[in-house]
Amino acid sequence: MDSNCAGKNEQLLLFKRAVESVRNGICITNPRLPDNPIVYVNDAFLEMTTYQRHQVVGRNCRFLQRDDRDQIAIENIREAIRTEQPITTILRNYRRDGSIFWNELTVSPVHDENGTLINFVGVQNDISARKEAEKRVSEFYSVISHELRTPLSSINGALSVIADGSAGKVNAQVMRMVSIALENSERLIRLISDILDWKKIESGKFKLNTSNISPEQLIDSVIAAVKPLACSAQVNLKKEVSTAAELSVDVDRTMQVLTNLVDNAIKFSPVKSTVTVSAELRGLDTVRFSVADQGEGIAPDQLDKLFKVFQQLDSSDSRKAGGTGLGLSISRSLVELHGGQIGVDSVVGKGSTFWFEFYTANSKVHS
Ligand SMILES: Cc1cc2nc3c(=O)[nH]c(=O)nc-3n(C[C@H](O)[C@H](O)[C@H](O)COP(=O)(O)O)c2cc1C
Repeated sequence: MDSNCAGKNEQLLLFKRAVESVRNGICITNPRLPDNPIVYVNDAFLEMTTYQRHQVVGRNCRFLQRDDRDQIAIENIREAIRTEQPITTILRNYRRDGSIFWNELTVSPVHDENGTLINFVGVQNDISARKEAEKRVSEFYSVISHELRTPLSSINGALSVIADGSAGKVNAQVMRMVSIALENSERLIRLISDILDWKKIESGKFKLNTSNISPEQLIDSVIAAVKPLACSAQVNLKKEVSTAAELSVDVDRTMQVLTNLVDNAIKFSPVKSTVTVSAELRGLDTVRFSVADQGEGIAPDQLDKLFKVFQQLDSSDSRKAGGTGLGLSISRSLVELHGGQIGVDSVVGKGSTFWFEFYTANSKVHS
């Protein structure tokens, strides 16, 4: 045997050992044979599926499926195989004893040196434990949110009745305590509705309710809503609108985004500084809303953390702002649901400008 051949054998042995040792299931199919049957599986595949080798070799991998074959993942795999494209997807599969497992599957085509398809290789990963944990976390959130919201709303209602005097006169000291309690119950209600929004967005159940509105109307409504906060923080609010282009958006949700940005800007602004809320046309059919503050600014390495779930730049910031850590990530999702973009430009020591952009109502993107 020449040294070149010995080298090749050694390499083959290396590949064989590696494929046999990995903890992921691996299977190789032959698409040139009828129905693309399995020609090789490693031990991890057998362990995961609890089949024996002779029960799987020669069969198409769909024996891992049962009656619930209307999964979008299966359709996508079929299409990827047809077009000889790689795919990674998650689907429900069944072990030999009928028990279900969640399979994170990657299927890749293997081509020879002439570009001819010779095999497919599948890598299987049992992610049932992760799926189960995600489900429990999700159920926990929704139980907590619903169980908390009802009693909290009645506490909030009762406190509001005392605070506005409808329940009779109370002395100044009690009134002070009532207003602290009221403020905090409102903060908790905001947190719960943030969690519910986030859950709905995450599960893809969020539906936008669109209607037409001008940027100026939106900004006016938001400024009216945040004025009390700006007054108590002694921050000036300035409006700059240079476009009258109509938008087709979910008005409540767009207000929620803009209010969130203005709220944050006020909370992080020094006394006597100005927060500017503006809208301008960019290009032919994009309206950009911007909220510029004169605060401390944000360091460049912190910027990409901003829009992620439960990320606040540091805990002292979150206490100062009284935020949930969800506001910006919900804003990002809401903007993206509209087909828009959100971002921030910031200079440390000068301030930050948060912005988001939507297509105008008569943009071609909508038609
Ligand atoms: C290499 C390879 C690995 C596959 N692994 C799995 C798998 O682990 N589980 C599964 O349900 N389907 C798997 N499939 C997909 C099925 O074999 C089949 O392509 C899919 O069910 C769609 O085609 P069908 O509609 O003809 O069943 C794999 C396919 C290939 C090519």
